[in-house]
Amino acid sequence: MTTTSFTEADSAALVIERLAQCVGPLPAFLAALVRHVHQAVRETRPTQADWRRAIEFLTEVGHASDDKRQEWVLLSDLLGVSALVEEINTRRPKGATPNTVRGPFYRADAPRLASGADISLDGIGEPLVVSARVTDLDGQPVAGATVETWQANAQGFYENQQPDLQPEFNLRGVFTTDAGGGFSYRTVRPGGYAVPCDGPVGRMLHAIGYPLRRPAHLHFIITAPGFETISTHVYDGQDPHLAEDALFGVKQELVGTFRPDDGAAKGGRWSLDFTFVMVRARKERKPA
Ligand code: BEZ
Ligand code: FE
Repeated sequence: MTTTSFTEADSAALVIERLAQCVGPLPAFLAALVRHVHQAVRETRPTQADWRRAIEFLTEVGHASDDKRQEWVLLSDLLGVSALVEEINTRRPKGATPNTVRGPFYRADAPRLASGADISLDGIGEPLVVSARVTDLDGQPVAGATVETWQANAQGFYENQQPDLQPEFNLRGVFTTDAGGGFSYRTVRPGGYAVPCDGPVGRMLHAIGYPLRRPAHLHFIITAPGFETISTHVYDGQDPHLAEDALFGVKQELVGTFRPDDGAAKGGRWSLDFTFVMVRARKERKPA
């Protein structure tokens, strides 16, 4: 152990030297974190009061997190860290549907429905018919895939945000693809929304004018044996906030076209046709 005293220039090196004596994979991550946090402190030179305020904020984030609400996840989402972790772990070949972050409004217990069902239980909003196919990279249908979908209503609220205003499981459903890889359902056109600002993360970012809008979108999780799970969004290509999604989820492959329906035959005012492309499951790159 060296006897170098703690200075502004050597601070990170001293801590990293101590971490070097530790075992397991965690010290390498902590060393990277220390290097970057010390560098941020050197660059931004917070006062002691500033640093106390930062610690108070992190304390509030912890207190506001429980099994129903995860402010840490929201912080990670809004600072682009969740999208980066997703990007690193699910980089897919060209033509495959990319993943995006799942967000906090998913429910694992949504009802299984027959293809063609209407998931709008209150019928409020502009009708939309979603007709989709699930294929592999060669364009072959993936039959028997499970497709979970959920979305906000026309005002931009999820059913579990408004349990007194929306019927339970409104705008949620689970479908199975047919022999041609297809599934369809009726719904209403979703509204865009702002990320909730009633917790410490939303309040802090709102106060500094950080973009918190999410362009209108539909959520999907698609699972099929032998394929990587797709967990993604399909965005409304006409939403004015497409370029500034608070979660950094918009990718060209995920932008859908909501077309005005020209025939009564489909029974909807808008229609969305979309193809999801799955890739065969690859071997785990690293143990989790
Ligand atoms: C969502 O897409 O449902 C979402 C994700 C993160 C924060 C808020 C909402
Ligand atoms: Fe959403």
